[in-house]
Amino acid sequence: MKSVLRIAAVLWCFLLCSVVRSGSSDGIGKMRDTDEEISLLESQLMVTSSPQLLMVPLTLIQEAGPKGAVCLDGTLPGYHLHRGSGSGANRWLIQLEGGGWCNTRRNCIFRKTTRRGSSNYMEKVLAFTGILSNKANENPDFYNWNRVKLRYCDGASFTGDSQDESSKLYYRGHRIWKEAMKELLSIGMQQAEQALLSGCSAGGLASILHCDQFKELFPATTKVKCLSDAGMFMDAVDVSGGHSLRNMFQGVVTIHNLKTELSSACTNHLDPTSCFFPQNLVSGIKTPMFLLNAAYDAWQVQESLAPPSADLTGSWKACKLDHSHCNSSQIQFFQNFRTQMVDAVKSFSASTHNGVFINSCFAHCQSERQDTWHAPDSPTLYGKTVAESVGDWYFDRTTVKAIDCPYPCDKTCHDLVFK
Ligand SMILES: *[C@@H]1O[C@H](CO)[C@@H](O)[C@H](O)[C@H]1NC(C)=O
Repeated sequence: MKSVLRIAAVLWCFLLCSVVRSGSSDGIGKMRDTDEEISLLESQLMVTSSPQLLMVPLTLIQEAGPKGAVCLDGTLPGYHLHRGSGSGANRWLIQLEGGGWCNTRRNCIFRKTTRRGSSNYMEKVLAFTGILSNKANENPDFYNWNRVKLRYCDGASFTGDSQDESSKLYYRGHRIWKEAMKELLSIGMQQAEQALLSGCSAGGLASILHCDQFKELFPATTKVKCLSDAGMFMDAVDVSGGHSLRNMFQGVVTIHNLKTELSSACTNHLDPTSCFFPQNLVSGIKTPMFLLNAAYDAWQVQESLAPPSADLTGSWKACKLDHSHCNSSQIQFFQNFRTQMVDAVKSFSASTHNGVFINSCFAHCQSERQDTWHAPDSPTLYGKTVAESVGDWYFDRTTVKAIDCPYPCDKTCHDLVFK
């Protein structure tokens, strides 16, 4: 799997280095190839970005060590917490960080030397934006909640409970989940009147995988819901007729030994790899859940539909990096993908307590970034921003079943374009 480092780099890079918004000229630069460069770039971004950004320090979970709830390299996991106030003092938002997966021993070993596998390499402070912002005009419904970003360092969406002695690899995602929740409960989350589990990308998948477990942490009187942003990873056929993402997920499930970790309601009738795919899980989730996803999810376009291994001649390269370079048959391929995603949420969406926001954009992770979450020109569906839609659903102000018409009908997209 020689594309693995690239996959990792693309993922980590996604929101930080190579992304240029369609039609804007503030390109940050070329795709970086190493995590080190990415971190460097990220810290530069932080220093130079607007001074009113809320910077929140990393807390390591000391109790996790003795429980073996550790990152891939054996270091302590951690989180960033900004305390709520006023009406938000007893409300808790947990955001599970994303960042791909490791699916071979080799790339798990590589991951140990990055912030996605070791707290030694994690940023010591992070900017809280979008759904984590503390400003009412940026984050109208959750700005004064207790807001937590749980760092991702296990490589399997906070699942897994095994280890590889010979390579000194700890696959302890599930233990990290449990110990992190225990610590948060002990420092105030126990008193939560309202709670929301969220996450983007691999963290959006984690939110799906853990939603019902999250609900069980609280008394029945607590209002608990879950949000998955860009977590609808489809078991799709790629441009060469293969199953690139299924192959990758199969590696994740095998190397992290997830067989017994995944929902038994699913593994009773499907193979474990299928039970890592949201399309086979979401309609079985009992807790109210909101699925937020771009119909042409930029990560899935690049890494599931047209990865280099499925596009040997490179004929998809220009198109997958910038949709304005796609021809009509390539757009048609994406339309089929959109149809699969829309079909996959149908029965989920029929449940009154669930919410859906699938906009016809080439985007990925729209809740973390301020420009896509809630801003004067941010994406909308039926006239509402992502933040307003999620808020309306969470607080039961209206039902939200927002599915966009197919490309190119949406003029509010913040499409990602890669150089
Ligand atoms: C679109 O591009 C692909 C890949 O280069 C090519 O195989 C296909 O024939 C093109 N289709 C049209 C309608 O031009």
